Amino acid sequence: MGNVVVIGSQWGDEGKGKIVDWLSERADVVVRFQGGHNAGHTLVVDGVSYKLSLMPSGVVRQGKLSVIGNGVVFDPHAFVAEKGRLAAQGVEISPQSLRIADNAALILSVHRELDAIRETSSTGTKIGTTGRGIGPAYEDKVGRRAIRVMDLANVDVLPERIERLLAHHNPLRRGLGQAEIDPAAILEELTSVAAEITPYIDRVWRLLDERRKAGERILFEGAQGTLLDIDHGTYPFVTSSNTVAGQAAAGSGLGPSSIGFVLGITKAYTTRVGEGPFPTEQDNEVGQFLGEAGHEFGTVTGRKRRCGWFDAVLVRQAVAVNGIHGLALTKLDVLDGLDEIKVGVGYRLDGKVIDYLPASLADQRRAEPVYETFEGWRETTRGARRWSDLPAQAIKYVRHIEELVGAPVTLLSTSPEREDTILVRDPFQD
Ligand code: GDP
Ligand code: IMO
Ligand code: MG
Repeated sequence: MGNVVVIGSQWGDEGKGKIVDWLSERADVVVRFQGGHNAGHTLVVDGVSYKLSLMPSGVVRQGKLSVIGNGVVFDPHAFVAEKGRLAAQGVEISPQSLRIADNAALILSVHRELDAIRETSSTGTKIGTTGRGIGPAYEDKVGRRAIRVMDLANVDVLPERIERLLAHHNPLRRGLGQAEIDPAAILEELTSVAAEITPYIDRVWRLLDERRKAGERILFEGAQGTLLDIDHGTYPFVTSSNTVAGQAAAGSGLGPSSIGFVLGITKAYTTRVGEGPFPTEQDNEVGQFLGEAGHEFGTVTGRKRRCGWFDAVLVRQAVAVNGIHGLALTKLDVLDGLDEIKVGVGYRLDGKVIDYLPASLADQRRAEPVYETFEGWRETTRGARRWSDLPAQAIKYVRHIEELVGAPVTLLSTSPEREDTILVRDPFQD
């Protein structure tokens, strides 16, 4: 198949960054295709930790091309700040190593402010967003009034673009009791950063088409997870983009026939940050154990992640909506030492057991998980690099997950470190 798309099969933070970093050794190009700097992808190489938000995880390896696709909402100031943080860690980013799609929509201060206003308002639904302005920026994109990356290369068009944008935002702000925005402030916000972005701007659809024709391997890096997808997730407690594998094509400009192997990154238990339903949540000592053993604190906001048992119903649904060919199962080591491990295998709703997550929020909240209980293992799996290093009981758990969700484990991760990864099947060779 050649190319690989990595997506989260739960509520994000499954370990996508680690797996993309590991796989990028075998790839030539790494492409982000949705989301923005709401993502927090952690890679650990020889004990050094790198936290990436807007940058594709390929930037850490020399000689790889990183691409920010059109489906991403791009905050130019966040880009410059992240580039500076990485430079301080010895990772240099240049127009030779990274390209940004000319047709990606921008995130501006007006979006961040609106995100914050909504999240702190006493009316409306608090989502528990990352506060990065992601939702408002996508709204403007779909509303056909966004300022785009290409506009930074043509500052003459900016006053007209800003006027169109503020014709929407200023009346909205007045209604929310906020001060109106002066167009000159937005113009300054954009012109002050334009020169740092323009060298990176590219016609990404063509670039990817050329690389594909040259036989290069393309790795797509999803952000968030399937249950945060705007269509398939726990709406309205979702992010504002499509996070599923199908978006890799639309969000990069490479056609769906070139997407290749779909790798679903899957945590051996479940976590969620922010508000919204979470049927297998363990708001008790089990959740506390998982949170402590798994260091479950948000990469972007530092918030404590909610923790619970593995939910096979959700992942089976993710296998279907993404067309997942194989799983990368992560954080198995976090379960080390538990006497028993539970797995959600269905939900009880109105006296019936169902095998899917209902679309309605009210039903999602009422759905009670049906569990199977497994015996745990005493030995450690942490740092295992061979299948034969795993305790028999841990292998049994992995095999059962495969069966329940209907997809094989292609990769297994046993610690945050890059090399603590077991390859079962090479997704690039499939
Ligand atoms: P992402 O958003 O999907 O890239 O995931 P995050 O980076 O937000 O969160 C995953 C966390 O788990 C990070 O701190 C990783 O370093 C860590 N991690 C990844 N894989 C493993 C693993 O197999 N075992 C353990 N213990 N930690 C892991
Ligand atoms: P990675 O790529 C986990 C969650 C937020 C909130 C909801 C909407 O690191 O897996 P947004 O700021 O996107 O409008 O917030 O989505 N969220 C994430 N949760 N991992 C992420 O990314 C997330 N990105 C957004 O917590 O509930
Ligand atoms: Mg994350």
